[in-house]
Amino acid sequence: MGLLVEKYRPDSLEHVVLPYYVKEKIKQMIDSKDIPNLLLYGPPGTGKTTIARIIIKNILNNEKNVLILNASDDRGIDVIRNKIIPFVSVKPANDNFRIVFMEEVGAPQGGLTMAAQSALLNIIEDKHTYARFIMTTNFPEKLLPSLRSRFVQIKIEEMQKNDMLDRLRYICEQEQIQYDDQQLMRIINTTYPNMRNALQLLEGCVVQRANVKLIDDNLLTKAIAEIYSINRIELSKQFIVALWKNRKNFTKETIKTLPFVIDRIEDIPIETVMQLLDKKDELELIEMMIDLRKKNKDASLIDLIAQILNSQ
Ligand SMILES: Nc1ncnc2c1ncn2[C@@H]1O[C@H](COP(=O)(O)OP(=O)(O)O)[C@@H](O)[C@H]1O
Ligand SMILES: [Mg+2]
Repeated sequence: MGLLVEKYRPDSLEHVVLPYYVKEKIKQMIDSKDIPNLLLYGPPGTGKTTIARIIIKNILNNEKNVLILNASDDRGIDVIRNKIIPFVSVKPANDNFRIVFMEEVGAPQGGLTMAAQSALLNIIEDKHTYARFIMTTNFPEKLLPSLRSRFVQIKIEEMQKNDMLDRLRYICEQEQIQYDDQQLMRIINTTYPNMRNALQLLEGCVVQRANVKLIDDNLLTKAIAEIYSINRIELSKQFIVALWKNRKNFTKETIKTLPFVIDRIEDIPIETVMQLLDKKDELELIEMMIDLRKKNKDASLIDLIAQILNSQ
């Protein structure tokens, strides 16, 4: 079957599911063979990388004129000195410009450092005659406003669930996978709006029986349960932070009124949640939890939350 995510990565703009106005804007850039510095932002798995690749493919004749820096590359000042500056210091051959394509530039961990971002400011200014920058990020707010302002910022909107359904139907038909809409909707409801995750989930649940490819309901149920148990930890973190931020509005009864959520997070180790808290933003909450933990070794996560709320 091949990896669905790569096999069905659209290679032309017309196959990318996008709102009309975004598509038109990008189409105009491609048609004019001219692009500004571009920042594509939006949630994961919605088409940022796909669109950037399509733009680059359509604008450049010579693949030597693109430098691709993946999220795993070092994001400090060294990458600017050792890779970007040498690359943009060479004039393009056979093209109007050279493109630096940087993936996942703003991230809670591993994004461009502040020093690297400042260094980029000058390079973008100095080399604007023949260098263009395309960047993608899920977290535009992690970038310096002065850097962001040098880019045309395009929000890649999440597609509608119906469009996602159409795309999954199309892929199943191409791959001759038997499906029903209910199965596809289970996939979508679990992964929305991340199309990459939807395709991975689909791929993991397809089995071959007597020359027929189909989606196995049991596998699907198992895979969904697994995804929820991973997300559960992330969700509980958000839940606790949200409770804490709104703590002044809660009464002592609050915890009891949220049985469903409580039930889902009760058995998550406190340490796991604490590790996930953003140290900078939630310092006060973390201190409070550490404090309570010391006082009461056997407290469950729920006990701690209750104490935090009750202590206000
Ligand atoms: N808007 C879209 N239209 C069609 N397919 C999409 C779209 N967004 C994502 N996909 C599918 O999901 C996969 C991941 O998309 P990608 O562009 O890498 O996401 P991002 O860079 O936003 O995380 C692609 O290979 C493609 O198959
Ligand atoms: Mg990407």
